[in-house]
Amino acid sequence: MPRTEFISTGFYVPERVVRNEEFTQWMDTSDEWIRTRTGITERRWVADGQTGSDLAYQASQLALERAGMKAADLDCIIYCTLSPDYFFPGTGVFLQRQLGVPEIPCLDVRNQCTGFLYGLSIADAWIRTGQYKRILLVGSEVHSTGMDLTTRGRDLSVLFGDGAGVAILGPTTDEKRGVLSTHIYADGRYAELLFSESPASAHNPRISHADLDAGKQYAHMQGKEVFKHASTRMPQSVKLALESNGLTPQDIKLLIPHQANLRISEMVQKLLGLRDDQLYNNIQRYGNTTAGSIPIALDECVQAGRLQRGDLLVLAAFGSGFTWGSAAVRW
Ligand code: UT7
Repeated sequence: MPRTEFISTGFYVPERVVRNEEFTQWMDTSDEWIRTRTGITERRWVADGQTGSDLAYQASQLALERAGMKAADLDCIIYCTLSPDYFFPGTGVFLQRQLGVPEIPCLDVRNQCTGFLYGLSIADAWIRTGQYKRILLVGSEVHSTGMDLTTRGRDLSVLFGDGAGVAILGPTTDEKRGVLSTHIYADGRYAELLFSESPASAHNPRISHADLDAGKQYAHMQGKEVFKHASTRMPQSVKLALESNGLTPQDIKLLIPHQANLRISEMVQKLLGLRDDQLYNNIQRYGNTTAGSIPIALDECVQAGRLQRGDLLVLAAFGSGFTWGSAAVRW
């Protein structure tokens, strides 16, 4: 059975940079609060009319170019997002249409911050069994169109940013390389702790004027609880990725944790005893881009030459659902 290799990566973020200071014109907050509690200094926001599939298209073009491939060489799209362009159809088909590759299957994955790892797990299974040979795996989000920019929504609106990252995956017969393992988990007992309640088919009407007045169209989070779970589940997932491959934290060349909060990443680093050079963070510049965060960070690392053939890469995520997981990859 072949293994799954990363053929190429790419990312795209919108041009508009929104620095922490900008939020002070809308709400009671400060650059100091945002930086010290989260590590974030700025994030990107889409222009009017720019969609998640538009961001994904730009990132995909870059990855295709780097792979020396045309869109027609792809045989499947897996599109991970919690902020789909529309309720339905899934966003994968809008990307497929822009890429001009009708008929290839498009699977939308709805596992929030862990979306990219869920998608990787599916892609890996399909590639190893020979179902598909060239899979475009996407993590793309637009948060800025759904933010409560008043003091009521300050705990969430300062955290999130827009952006897309992609990877093109395919089979390799090199036994020393490729995806070694993926581990994915979920626990619906905590579904409402990080939650977007409306609009939803669970209500009739899906959203009412009263809901809008109450701000129910905005996500809600019990930050401290989420923080607590994230900072235990992420290191646990990394340990599992290592143990199941007979490896230790010292073997890690690069750990890319989902970028939810710099303090969570620092906690993961401390619990695993990792040096600074073994971990990558870019939340300072992009905020939390949920399903986009791992592939964006991965592409930055690849372009900076931080991964050489055979290096051990570990990816880990935690998010709404709750969902969490990890992947171990020999680059
Ligand atoms: O990606 C998915 C997973 N997501 C996460 O893992 C996020 C996990 N949670 C967190 O990162 C943190 O809980 C936050 C960054 C969201 C919040 O940090 P915190 O240290 O837990 O702060 P807090 O929620 O306890 O709030 C402390 C204070 C509160 O005021 P009082 O009640 O102490 O007077 C908040 O109202 O900070 C206030 N606050 C703010 N102040 C200024 C909340 N948001 C803001 C803000 N600016 N933007």
